[in-house]
Amino acid sequence: MGLLGCGAIGSEIAFAIDSGKISAKLTHIYDFSKDNSGKLVNMLQNKPIVTENVGLLAASPVDLIIEAASQDAVRDDILSILQNRKDVMIMSVGALLDESIFDIVMDGCKDFNKRVYLPSGAIIGLDGIRAVRDELDLVTLVTTKNPKALKGAKFFETSNIDLDGITQSTIIYEGSAQEAVRLFPANINVAALLSLAGIGSQKTRVKIIADPSTDKNTHEIQAEGKFGKFSIKVENMPSPSNPKTSRLATLAAIECLKKICGTSLNIGT
Ligand SMILES: NC(=O)c1ccc[n+]([C@@H]2O[C@H](COP(=O)([O-])OP(=O)(O)OC[C@H]3O[C@@H](n4cnc5c(N)ncnc54)[C@H](O)[C@@H]3O)[C@@H](O)[C@H]2O)c1
Repeated sequence: MGLLGCGAIGSEIAFAIDSGKISAKLTHIYDFSKDNSGKLVNMLQNKPIVTENVGLLAASPVDLIIEAASQDAVRDDILSILQNRKDVMIMSVGALLDESIFDIVMDGCKDFNKRVYLPSGAIIGLDGIRAVRDELDLVTLVTTKNPKALKGAKFFETSNIDLDGITQSTIIYEGSAQEAVRLFPANINVAALLSLAGIGSQKTRVKIIADPSTDKNTHEIQAEGKFGKFSIKVENMPSPSNPKTSRLATLAAIECLKKICGTSLNIGT
């Protein structure tokens, strides 16, 4: 396997492979921060090769490349990875709400007969959303995070909300999933997953709340339609090395890789 991005998620996945939790070999990694790739290699028992650039990672002799870097990485590198005939697991799912990127991915999969995996990330219930997608009228996501987990988002470049000045639970954004993933690219990948599984990014509604009293990343989903309705609430512990990322997102990615690499029972839809 190859790994693009050696931060919070990429490192945890690498540890899971190194310890044998996932039956695979991690042979090639790349991160544009040499510090991050170097740190990761030092902590692994089975040392992968650090490639000089992403092109060499894409061309390396692996079956699957795990993207755990950024929306920009998906935008810039997905085509080259698929052209090099590698399957891909994408974590920065928000990139796929850009129709041109989505089309590149879909065409690439078809042209090169490759698969792209999108793990469930920091939410549960995508199986249900997919099952009822033709009968869905309404999907809403309310995400509540500590202000420090929202820091650095593009949204704040043009908004006059001062995150440091927030003293109580405050709605800071309401809009479509399409816009939310553009304004909060590192925070709201779950909105992208919900959109792709359900009724699309224009119709999926998103509310983001900054709450200084919480230490969790909470996602509440309401889905309604001819089938009935359901609601899901997930209270995630943030990853210790990146407060924007929930622990469940990493665990879901590891589970997805176990399923890809394993031969055991497939449980769930
Ligand atoms: N699908 C989900 O539910 C979900 C949940 C959490 C995070 N994410 C996304 O997964 C990605 C990784 O998350 P993380 O918490 O590990 O982030 P992180 O910031 O801890 O690590 C990202 C790493 O990728 C590297 N990187 C970024 N852009 C790159 C590029 N273009 N080329 C090479 N290296 C690059 C960085 O240097 C860093 O080491 C992010 O895009 C994040 O938004 C998805």
